[in-house]
Amino acid sequence: MKILALGAGGFIGSHLTERLLRDGYAVTGVDTHSDKLTDALKHPSFTFVATDIADRRFDLDAAVRAADLVIDLIAYANPGLYIRMPLEVFRLNFTENLRIAESCVRHGRRLIQFSSCEVYGKSVAGIAAGDLADPDDPKHATFNEEESPMIMGPVGKHRWIYASAKSLLERVLHAYGLEGRLDYTIVRPFNFIGPRIDYLPSQQDGIPRVFSYFMDALLNGGRMLLVDGGRQRRTYTHIADAVDCIARMVARPGAAHNQIFNVGARGNEVSIRGLAELMREIYAARFRLPGQPLAEIAEVSGREFYGEGYDDSDRRIPDIAKARSLLGWEPRYDLRATLDDAMGYYVAMTRGQA
Ligand code: UGA
Repeated sequence: MKILALGAGGFIGSHLTERLLRDGYAVTGVDTHSDKLTDALKHPSFTFVATDIADRRFDLDAAVRAADLVIDLIAYANPGLYIRMPLEVFRLNFTENLRIAESCVRHGRRLIQFSSCEVYGKSVAGIAAGDLADPDDPKHATFNEEESPMIMGPVGKHRWIYASAKSLLERVLHAYGLEGRLDYTIVRPFNFIGPRIDYLPSQQDGIPRVFSYFMDALLNGGRMLLVDGGRQRRTYTHIADAVDCIARMVARPGAAHNQIFNVGARGNEVSIRGLAELMREIYAARFRLPGQPLAEIAEVSGREFYGEGYDDSDRRIPDIAKARSLLGWEPRYDLRATLDDAMGYYVAMTRGQA
């Protein structure tokens, strides 16, 4: 089977590409950069096309026609970008992704579309804790693909342009599916983490995810900044578990036909403050150099850190019953092992061992 992986050069794309090649598929990867694809580039069944998807000299239709399956991972998926360049986020995450989906419709190709757990927005407890007898009960923040509502903030909080673009795209794919014109599978990742995630902000311009900020502070000095007190909670999923789930979607087209899947390790929930504390503890125990000071934890407001228009998901836990029953998938890595691997990668990289 031939797979077209659009956005293969990113964190998730590179891990997924390596796994698909190991599973015996031929993969054509498309991206603007290939620095995370060092291993894949050596593989005889891998072809890399260096292009921006928006560059009309790239013949998207021909690439889609040549494949049996299209996996679309193209996205800007870091909240800092939703604040800094909301229109560009909409253009890539909706307009360009829609063009890919419509090419799959035209040529009758199966599509695995990466979306985001951001589409769930805030939890019920996040907007109405005072009305609930048990606001901390995980049931208020456990999201189910078929039943949970999507609760976004107001337009003026432009963080939500990303989630709105992703959820509109999902709705378009669903509508094509209803008309029998598209065989799709939608993936909603819940904070995948692992080697090669993002980049260290001291080494590259931009606004990566929280893990990279904390890692940078631990490695290079500086403070681990908790946005709005660090009470927000996330569930972190090891990239190896995540990729294993996607590989099952690839291998079982019948089970995954016109389905949306939450992909996340529901047991790995932690507050952002808890994440900072655990990373500090792991760093002190495993990676700290003799005499190296341990990064301090401090607080900052969302507005100060990201700018005007920032808002946040308070808590999100995946219901993974569907991935369990249709794909036989179960995440295996706990939070500590997940962080150990991601942190170990950055430690080795900055000390010249990776
Ligand atoms: C992001 C994207 O928006 C999702 O689309 C994506 O699916 C998701 O990451 C993911 O990795 O799966 P988010 O979890 O909000 O969502 O991303 P982070 O930037 O890592 O932020 C997590 C939390 O940490 C937020 O509450 C943020 O305010 C906070 N934060 C961030 C800090 O407290 N300190 C920092 O230095 C950076």
